[in-house]
Amino acid sequence: MAKYNKILVTGGAGFIGTNFVRYVIKNNPDVQIVVLDKLTYAGNADNLKDLPEDRVQLVVGDINDADLVDQLVQKTQAVVHFAAESHNDRALHDPRVFMQTNLMGTFTLIEAARKYHVRFHHVSTDEVYGDLPLRPTTPDLDKFTTSSQYKPSSPYSATKAGADLLVRAWVRSFGLQATISNTSNNYGPYQHIEKFIPRQITNIMSGIRPKLYGNGQNVRDWIHVLDHVAGIWAILERGEIGETYLLGANEELDNLTVLQMILQNMGLDSQDFDFVADRPGHDLRYAIDATKAQNDLNWQPQYTDFAAGLQQTIQWYQAHQSWWQADKTAVEANYAKDKQ
Ligand code: NAD
Ligand code: DAU
Repeated sequence: MAKYNKILVTGGAGFIGTNFVRYVIKNNPDVQIVVLDKLTYAGNADNLKDLPEDRVQLVVGDINDADLVDQLVQKTQAVVHFAAESHNDRALHDPRVFMQTNLMGTFTLIEAARKYHVRFHHVSTDEVYGDLPLRPTTPDLDKFTTSSQYKPSSPYSATKAGADLLVRAWVRSFGLQATISNTSNNYGPYQHIEKFIPRQITNIMSGIRPKLYGNGQNVRDWIHVLDHVAGIWAILERGEIGETYLLGANEELDNLTVLQMILQNMGLDSQDFDFVADRPGHDLRYAIDATKAQNDLNWQPQYTDFAAGLQQTIQWYQAHQSWWQADKTAVEANYAKDKQ
């Protein structure tokens, strides 16, 4: 039996939210989920359409709609909060909606959760800690831990850091029954094609040369999305109120290496890509120390072979062209405006 069997999932039609809903429904026959999702450019109702209607309900709406949030939160036992504006490149051009959704939207949700004494889990990012130097580093700068300083460097990560701090303050001041997870870069099925890995896969499939920012040396710490959602479920089931958990899979790779793995996997030459202008303020390296989550939650990443996970991801985009093809022209036109 699951600890909570009525769960409200915000952003459940986006990349990680979709994977979470599908994972929970598959593994927990006693759980019912209501998804609250605005269906922005990043949300897709079709991601959930094959799930049983008596267990998954999609409510199309905004987490800033306090009346709607109030109605939904009072009928649930737990809220898992994924909804956000999530893309750094967009935040650099239009930060306002990031303030509205990531800060005000989180505020609206935690107000309702405290009113109805509902368990709250806030899904956040390792980017709240800023970036780390490229290796070799001193031990204190080697990986992010739960005691790393908040030092966000981008408009997106600043809003996520602000949201984390709101949740922490609501725990301390109002006794909100909340936990937080900060996770590194996810990859896997259902990721929007504006993001690095699916952008390059779908570029190659569309006859467009992949694009690498700067010199390609920036490092990301990749975790398969199914390991991330299993970690969130473990926090809901076994996490301690007021605690923060860092979820990562020890898979630090520089962007050039990841791109060349994609090129090789798809039968192209390792030089078949273009270097383009760097992202302003581009964070150098992220790296997660997930020891606490592993020890306290009995959670371990299962997808530890990145090459195999990447190959499955490529195959997913190849098998689901209708899922992404209609968006491709607009996504690339958007990037072209910024000469990326
Ligand atoms: P995504 O952009 O793919 O999905 C976001 C979802 O939220 C979409 O379905 C969108 O329609 C919905 N949404 C946006 N604004 C909304 C609003 N105002 N009201 C209701 N719904 C709204 O994002 P993702 O990559 O799935 O990320 C989910 C969460 O995980 C975010 O909070 C993000 O910060 C965090 N996170 C992401 C990663 C990653 O690598 N993608 C890593 C760590 C943490
Ligand atoms: O670390 C967790 C974060 O990971 C999440 O909080 C964010 O929501 C998620 O988008 C992701 O942020 P990044 O900015 O790291 O992801 P993105 O996929 O945009 O870029 C990954 C790396 O690839 C980054 O160093 C920039 C680079 N890049 C990206 C794109 C889109 C390229 O070189 N070329 C590209 O075309």
